[in-house]
Parts: sequence; C-alpha cells; structure tokens
Amino acid sequence: MNQLDLACEQFRALLEEQLRRIETLEGEKVDFSGQRPVTIGLAQGDGIGPIIMAQAERVLRRLLESEIAAGTVTLRRIPGLTLENRLAQGVSVPPESLQAIKDCDVLLKGPTTTPMGGAMESANVTLRRELDLYANVRPVSIPALGIDWMFFRENTEGEYVLGSRGVEAPGLSMDFKVTTDAGTRRIARAAFDYARRNGKTRVSIVTKANIMKKTDGKFTAICHQVAQDYPEITADDWYIDIMAANLVNDSLRRQFQVFLLPNLYGDILTDEAAQIQGGVGTAGSANLGNRYAMFEAIHGSAPRMLQEGLGDYANPASILKAEAMLLRHICRTQAAQRLEQALSDCTVHVTGDRNGATCQAYGDAILALLDQ
Ligand code: IPM
Ligand code: MG
Repeated sequence: MNQLDLACEQFRALLEEQLRRIETLEGEKVDFSGQRPVTIGLAQGDGIGPIIMAQAERVLRRLLESEIAAGTVTLRRIPGLTLENRLAQGVSVPPESLQAIKDCDVLLKGPTTTPMGGAMESANVTLRRELDLYANVRPVSIPALGIDWMFFRENTEGEYVLGSRGVEAPGLSMDFKVTTDAGTRRIARAAFDYARRNGKTRVSIVTKANIMKKTDGKFTAICHQVAQDYPEITADDWYIDIMAANLVNDSLRRQFQVFLLPNLYGDILTDEAAQIQGGVGTAGSANLGNRYAMFEAIHGSAPRMLQEGLGDYANPASILKAEAMLLRHICRTQAAQRLEQALSDCTVHVTGDRNGATCQAYGDAILALLDQ
C-alpha cells in the first residue's frame, strides 16, 4: 500500500476509535463526602520526584495519622512507575503500575520523565487518558496583587489525545486535534459548578476559535450552551494570544476569576500563570475524573538538577499544594486547611539552588508549623 493510502486508512481508524470513545464519557462521580474510607496511591516519579515525594509522604502521614491508625485511610506505594522500568518494558505506564493505581481511589504522583524523541508517550498523558481524568484544575493566587485565578483545563482531548499518532505522507506531516461535545460539556460543567459553589461571577472561555474553527469553535459554542444553566455567572470569550498578554497586564488581570480552556492552551497558560505566581515550582495541579483523581506538581522531573547535584534543593511546595488539593478532594477538609495554612505561613525559602534551603528543611518547617 502506498503512503497516502496508508495514511487515509490510519485516519479512518482514528476517527472510528474517537467516535467509540464518546460512548465512554459519561459516568457517576465518586462521592467522598461523609469521609468514606480512602486508599491513596503514592508514585515517586523520576528525577527530583522521589526527593519531593519523600517530604509529601511525611507530611501526609502526619496529617492523616489517626485515620491511618484507624484504617480509614490507607497509603499505598505504586510499584514500577520509573523511567528505567518504563524504558525496559517499552511502555509509558507498565500494566502492573496501572492496575495498582486503579486499585486506589486517588493518586499523588511525583513528576515522571518523558524520553525525548522516540515513540513513548508521556506517562502523564497515558494516565490522564486511562483514568479518564478530564478536568485539570490549577489554582494560582497572589493575594498581594489581588490575583485569584482558577484554571479549568480540558485534560483528555484536543491535541493530546492523538498527539503520538499523527499521519505522514511524502513531504508532509499531520497531527490531529479532537474536540467532542460530551468532552467539552463535562469540563464546562466542572468550571461553572466550581464558579457557582465558590461565589465566582465570571468564567472566561479561552480558545483560538478565529483560526481553529471546527474544534475551538465547538468548544466555545458548547461552553456557552452550558453557561445558560448558570445565569448568575457571566461567560466571556477570549483568544489565547491576547489572554497570554492580559495575564501580564496589571490593569486587567485582577478581573479574571475562572478560566475554561481546551487542553493545549490550558497547558501553556497555566505555566505562564504559575510563573507569575513565583515559578512553576509553586503551583499544584489536580487531574479529576468521575472515578479517579490524580494530584501532581505542575513542574517536571528536572533531571538537570540531579546532574548538577542540586536534587536536595528541589522545591516541594508544588507537590505539597497538590497534596492539599487531594485532601480537599477526599473531603478531609480540616487536614487540607491545616496544610494550606502551614504552606502560607512557611518562610523557608527554597530557590532550587545552593543559595536556598533544602527540600528536607522545607518539609521540617511544614511539620513544625503543623505541630503549632
Ligand atoms: C503539564 C505538563 C504535561 C502536559 C506534560 C508533562 C505531558 O506540561 O502537566 O502541564 O503537557 O500536560
Ligand atoms: Mg504543562
């Protein structure tokens, strides 16, 4: 078969697969209210992952001490999610790791390294897809500047769902971007529900619908349909380029509250927002589905820090913020509040370099604040 026919056949198979995926998108949400028993999976990740996760685990054990003793909370280490094992098996998430994760209710995950080049997909992307974690929720707050933003990034569609499976014809390469009605509706609901529950009055939809007419056009239209069920909330549209500028425009940025975006724009804009907050090491990230949820730092595994002997100076603030989000998600609200308070009171300054405090010193300070 020639390359063109092969590409057409590949395309049809992708289209059929995505149409089948739509059937799987609805599901009942797990309800953690009433503090039902929970198993929390802990995956160390690669690079600085094990270093920041060691502090995250210490803190979690302290916060949930009595529930762990009573058996209503179980912490479970997830085996095999290391770069070495993933490379040896040639898979982004080994089956035994995925099964262990599915045996837990929620996962706290250190950053994982994606090998450059090659065909291996990012473990993050695989997990988001396999666990159907469709809402990537990322808060950014800078009280001193009056900034209080919450990002709702669609997490399973867009450029990511087929990102490793584009097609090629002679002299040409094509990747695909996928937007579904059901996939858009559920992320829009998540954003508007959040806005309603938290007394927010505005949700800003961010796309490039002037150029990506089919996919972003649909995303915007469906978000506005969903908005009709929330008459007390204003829904407005922006293009991603001007929104990237607005976030650094001091006279405009305070007015934004909740952002609702397709996957790739959400990826980019949340790094920008985290940087405005003080760096990508400072923001936490929740990946929520109906059945499972995964919490992680917004930054990567920083292999360069290890090569330069700086691993011990990694900043655990981002993974600890993710941990607070995890505690809120499983309705351990008091533990979440204690951790949030300790994080906001902590004066230990980690810079990621020898001039700053170590990761361990930061963990020590958080534990000391929890004891107060
Ligand atoms: C993020 C990361 C991931 C993404 C990478 C690691 C695949 O940048 O969580 O924002 O692109 O979503
Ligand atoms: Mg990113």
